[in-house]
Amino acid sequence: MPARIIGTGSSLPSLVVSNTELEKIMDTSDEWIKSRTGIGERHIAVEETTTSMAVEASERAMQSAKIEAEEIDLIIVGTVSGDMCFPSTACQVQSRIGAVNATAFDINAACAGFLFGLSIADAYIKAGMAKTALIIGAETLSKMMDWNDRSTCILFGDGAGAAIVKGDEHGIMSIVQGTDGARGEVLTCHNRAVNNPFVKGSMELDYTSMNGQEVYKFAVKTVPVAIRQALDAAGVQVDEIKYFLLHQANIRIIEAVARKMGQPIEKFPTNLQKCGNISAGSVPILLDSVNEQGVLKRGDKIVLAGFGAGLSWGASVLTW
Ligand code: ACO
Repeated sequence: MPARIIGTGSSLPSLVVSNTELEKIMDTSDEWIKSRTGIGERHIAVEETTTSMAVEASERAMQSAKIEAEEIDLIIVGTVSGDMCFPSTACQVQSRIGAVNATAFDINAACAGFLFGLSIADAYIKAGMAKTALIIGAETLSKMMDWNDRSTCILFGDGAGAAIVKGDEHGIMSIVQGTDGARGEVLTCHNRAVNNPFVKGSMELDYTSMNGQEVYKFAVKTVPVAIRQALDAAGVQVDEIKYFLLHQANIRIIEAVARKMGQPIEKFPTNLQKCGNISAGSVPILLDSVNEQGVLKRGDKIVLAGFGAGLSWGASVLTW
């Protein structure tokens, strides 16, 4: 039996920072950011942490799914910006929500994190290793940015999204995943350097660094192919898809994918105008807002797709 999404939730920091506010602290403009990316504002964590947002999103997802924390037997968090190296964010969420019966771990697949988590949960459920899974994408990317680098810091935001999945007759029809580690250097953030009594490394922490044009080319080439592969594997025609929920990196990437798929842009809901790019959080936060609007009906077919650092990508066709 495949996994079916039975509830969603999300959490965003209360501080909203517009492009106009960024104009006051760096050499940029609302016009440049909007025309290149579509982004108008983003939420930035002040009191919130990756864990606190993941917990809030999870509690909302449990309410939406009408389940108790004890029913959850698997928690997977996709994140590149946990509050601690260890314990993992998933372990902290498990404790804070009281999911005492759950095994919990994080995965690092950057902007594809939620799709990779969904794939693992689906495999666990099909193998009989789990019955009810909580999958979260949670990020505090604002702490990973060099705020003197206007080419990257304007793109990203903070937040978390979560989904509860359970085995069902209908649900995930296909998931395609891929990685091209050889091109990973186009989007990086290094860990702390080796520094011990035998080697003197830099104590400086690294920030996100990106070759935007290479990432753009990767996304517009790879994502339509991955979606087509997922459609073929599911035996579903592209016109049968009600919504394509893509990672919210850049409106131009989404428009290019829509064009390549021969689909109207109205089928591609977005929230990047208000949230920016939240890496692993993007897809589940968008899914939650679409679900909240009540426009998804049982039996609708949708596509989820995540893509980014790795380089890694994932696309799934599922029945709501
Ligand atoms: N404000 C004003 N000017 C800027 C800014 C800014 N925030 N950032 C860069 N510029 C300037 C540059 O300095 C450069 O100036 P120059 O011509 O005088 O040298 C000029 O704008 C053009 O810079 P480019 O980097 O060539 O700009 P480009 O048109 O490629 O747009 C962008 C940059 C928006 C990042 C684009 O490459 C892109 O969309 N890439 C996709 C990457 C992406 O979405 N990454 C997200 C993370 S990965 C993921 O989630 C998939």
